[in-house]
Amino acid sequence: MAVVNDPLEPVRTWGERIGLLSRFAWVVLSCGVFGILAAVSVASVPGILAAVTAGPEAIQAVFWGVAIALAFLLLLYAITFIGRREAEARLAGGMTARAPAGAAEVDEADAFVLYSPPGFVDDLKTHLEKGKVGWGQRALYVGVDGARSWLRVSEHEDYDISEGKLRSAFADVMARVDRPLGSLVSLGPGDGKVDAALMSLLGGKGSRPSYVPIDISEGLLLLTMKRLRMEHAGAPMPFGVLGDFEYGWDAFRHLLAGQPRPRLFSILGNTVSNLDAGLQKFFPTFWSGVAENDYVLFDVLLGNFDERLGAGDAGTYDPNLLFPDGEMMRRYKAFIGEGARRVSMDYRVYDEEHGRLTQWLKVHRTREPVDGYDQLHLQYHGEGDSKTIFKWRRYRDTKNLENWLTVSLQGCEVLGHVDVTDDGLTTRLILLRRNAAPAAQAL
Ligand SMILES: C[S@@+](CC[C@H](N)C(=O)[O-])C[C@H]1O[C@@H](n2cnc3c(N)ncnc32)[C@H](O)[C@@H]1O
Repeated sequence: MAVVNDPLEPVRTWGERIGLLSRFAWVVLSCGVFGILAAVSVASVPGILAAVTAGPEAIQAVFWGVAIALAFLLLLYAITFIGRREAEARLAGGMTARAPAGAAEVDEADAFVLYSPPGFVDDLKTHLEKGKVGWGQRALYVGVDGARSWLRVSEHEDYDISEGKLRSAFADVMARVDRPLGSLVSLGPGDGKVDAALMSLLGGKGSRPSYVPIDISEGLLLLTMKRLRMEHAGAPMPFGVLGDFEYGWDAFRHLLAGQPRPRLFSILGNTVSNLDAGLQKFFPTFWSGVAENDYVLFDVLLGNFDERLGAGDAGTYDPNLLFPDGEMMRRYKAFIGEGARRVSMDYRVYDEEHGRLTQWLKVHRTREPVDGYDQLHLQYHGEGDSKTIFKWRRYRDTKNLENWLTVSLQGCEVLGHVDVTDDGLTTRLILLRRNAAPAAQAL
């Protein structure tokens, strides 16, 4: 991405580098600059006094000296500000930092440690070459284009729960944790904004937990790590994991074994309802990586899809009905449409000129009377081929889900849940803890 023949290029590169400094480095740098300015000013006091007695011309000279120093400082800040904005825009576009020219430059930029469990790279390759069976929603985030089209959604102002509401919901639910946490392991951090908010809360509880993100998308993983390094410079971030958390917990268990305990595993953004394997398969596999006294925080959406699909029961629907008007929904539909092309390997499924999902995609709806959930499967039906692209689920209540978790997962206790409503949509945060398994009963 080098810009050719741009005379301002060296200035921009410098500004971008400075813009990527951590907050701590910033404070140190600013103190240094102000310190020098203060020292120079104090040193020039006798000069100023002499100038005052020497007459107006000398005063003017001192005035210009101070004005030039201030202008220089302002210029420094302006270049830095522009550099930071440019660097963030580049990362938001799925790019890594400006191409480094050598090892020293890699060291200078943020070079993060990434691990992948054995087999993951082969899985990814199979998926990219042939369309791996069973990869629906997972495939949507993969690659620079996957990360970029997700970021277009998550960066829209209508995507986020308002920060104030989110923070207070986190504070309410985390009030049930009675000890300082050692680390936060985030499953699917997306753009990292939610994790940054969660880390602020955890850091404010007197502990300084370390942070480990796990994501299937390299672009999102690096962006998250960069964000956390900038916003939580003091939090240890030993490594990130590029992998698939729907399986592979044998490897994750080893990788995460050394992280300070108790650990909080988070899986937020309604991700559990989208999983290809489904929640019933995911939780038992994932639980094998959760140790005694660890916590798990996840969220689901409450309500149903009646507003978009009508109050009918199970049936087949036009998927375009799921995306009402509005810029954020337009972007979300593009994310799903581009992903559907990738999973089905059929370019016709999305008409980007008119922003429409085409007749090769259908939504199948199931309503579960016992659990009270309303579930949608977006399905591709091509010539002789059929694949699930994405799943969504909303709950009337989570009583059955919480009971199921307690009964199926060893030592699982539901510590409580907290609801947060924003723009008419209610998200329920559910907090679990793994307790010691009851001692075997003597016969
Ligand atoms: C719906 S986004 C949620 C992002 C974020 N937690 C939030 O609250 O905004 C789902 C995230 O999970 C990741 N993801 C989905 N399935 C995954 C899988 N099987 N393994 C690893 N990461 C996965 C995606 O790449 C993405 O970052």
